Amino acid sequence: MTAARTAAATQDETRVAHEHFARPLIALHWIIAVCIIAMLCIGFYMVGLPRGMAFKSTLINFHKSLGITIFLLVLIRILVRLAYGRPPLPPMGAWQRAAASTTQGLLYVGMIAMPLTGYLGSSFNKFGTRLWGVLLPQWGWDDKAMRELFFGIHGYLAWIMAALVVLHFLGAMKHQLIDKDGLLRRMWP
Ligand code: HEM
Ligand code: HEM
Repeated sequence: MTAARTAAATQDETRVAHEHFARPLIALHWIIAVCIIAMLCIGFYMVGLPRGMAFKSTLINFHKSLGITIFLLVLIRILVRLAYGRPPLPPMGAWQRAAASTTQGLLYVGMIAMPLTGYLGSSFNKFGTRLWGVLLPQWGWDDKAMRELFFGIHGYLAWIMAALVVLHFLGAMKHQLIDKDGLLRRMWP
């Protein structure tokens, strides 16, 4: 009886370990992951550059365009995720399950909130927001207080987002190197 249950559990674990996210979700995960990490690095770097520097404006415009593009990709990802669902988590403790779900949920919230607060901050500026060179319809007005409010939130969220990415990465590495449960393969191209 116990042997049969063990065999069934092993079979179940093997099945779970070999199940993976749908291909479009894997592609979107890695494209967005690279872009978010790049955006965090570019963001922290560009705010430290001296005011009036041409390279700073170029970088800020690139940051805005890539940020809005990421936002659109995240919307597509959420729709695809709703359509395909996800493979069930491999067997793990309740706290680990809760930690993984919470971190991943918060990463989704951050992937929406970061571009949104950045875009709102940029909208209260007389120069407007350009997407890859194209001026977007301007509905905001020049308002320093609103700009500071949204960029303030944007800046705090960036640190939270960076911490979540580190946590998420360490979680993935724990599964890969300590638990050796093949979790990373579920998200591997
Ligand atoms: C740094 C390298 C990264 C690694 C090694 C990694 C690895 C993984 C793995 C293995 C999974 C699947 C977990 C499972 O099977 O349940 C996953 C899911 C996820 N990752 Fe990452 N990831 C990385 C970066 C990122 C970044 C930068 C973000 C976003 C900011 C991100 C957001 C997510 C989300 C939201 C999920 C849940 C997917 C879903 O259920 O729809 N990841 N990641
Ligand atoms: C994935 C999305 C995004 C990430 C991860 C991100 C990340 C960052 C980071 C790390 C900073 C530096 C924060 C600081 O130290 O104060 C920053 C600043 C900034 N971001 Fe973003 N950002 C994103 C999207 C956007 C979008 C969509 C826009 C505008 C359309 C935008 C506009 C700005 C601007 C103008 C600043 C400079 C703010 C200031 O001068 O205080 N960001 N961003």
